[in-house]
Amino acid sequence: MFGLHKQLERKSLALALGIVVAASIGGFVEIAPLFTIHQTVEDAPDMRVYTPLELAGRNIYIREGCYACHSQMIRTLRDEVERYGPYSLAVESKYDHPMLWGSKRTGPDLARVGAKYSDAWHVAHLDNPRAVVPESVMPAYRWLLRKDLRIDRLGDYLSAQRVVGVPYTDAMIANAEHDAYGQAAPDSAYAEGVTKRYGEATTIRVFDGQPGRLTEMDALVAYLQILGRLTDAAHKPAFAGRQ
Ligand code: HEC
Repeated sequence: MFGLHKQLERKSLALALGIVVAASIGGFVEIAPLFTIHQTVEDAPDMRVYTPLELAGRNIYIREGCYACHSQMIRTLRDEVERYGPYSLAVESKYDHPMLWGSKRTGPDLARVGAKYSDAWHVAHLDNPRAVVPESVMPAYRWLLRKDLRIDRLGDYLSAQRVVGVPYTDAMIANAEHDAYGQAAPDSAYAEGVTKRYGEATTIRVFDGQPGRLTEMDALVAYLQILGRLTDAAHKPAFAGRQ
């Protein structure tokens, strides 16, 4: 064995070739599954895209570094499934650019946190985590309730998402600002358009408890409440039964 290696070391061309072969094994192992990706990613016909308000909330989530403490991927392990719910499917991150799966968990995984708590709980928790969970080490995000949400660039942002494959229509892009406003203002004339463009199941509510004002809190809570609820695929028997 070592004799063979000694011979190889003396032939520079053979050694270089050997190095290339050895180094490409790792690359191949990573790249090979991508050839069958169309068979491995499940189909979810009911999957909807994020609304402009939820997308704005997602951007705040990224801006505030929530992903540094929270993952958004439930692994296929029994303890995870029992704690958080059905494990995450690839299709559930189909419209996530960038994805926020993560592996660092100072706090719990948030992949299925949508509808687990009320909006008021999230508002109180983000404003001061210790108010609802006394032993919490999560930072307070008090400014979210005070800062008005900037919506003037949301149309551009939706077009950018379309470039990377999210199927936003021209109407969704043209109405992004109105839809962001309407989703947090159920009594306004813009609320109807949100349902029309994003479906009946879209939640239209005053998320931050302050009617007549669109704040960053509205956007972030709208986003948290949709986590794990863009499609029902993970709850279907075919997947839910597999633990
Ligand atoms: C320093 C780490 C840290 C950061 C940063 C952080 N969190 Fe947390 N988070 C925690 C911890 C720890 C808990 C568990 C205790 C609690 O509920 O407060 C938690 C709990 C939560 C929960 C409740 C989850 C559940 O299932 O009970 C939500 C929702 C949440 N965080 C959202 C956020 C959002 C949104 C941000 C960014 C604005 C954020 N967190 C930033 C550490 C963090």
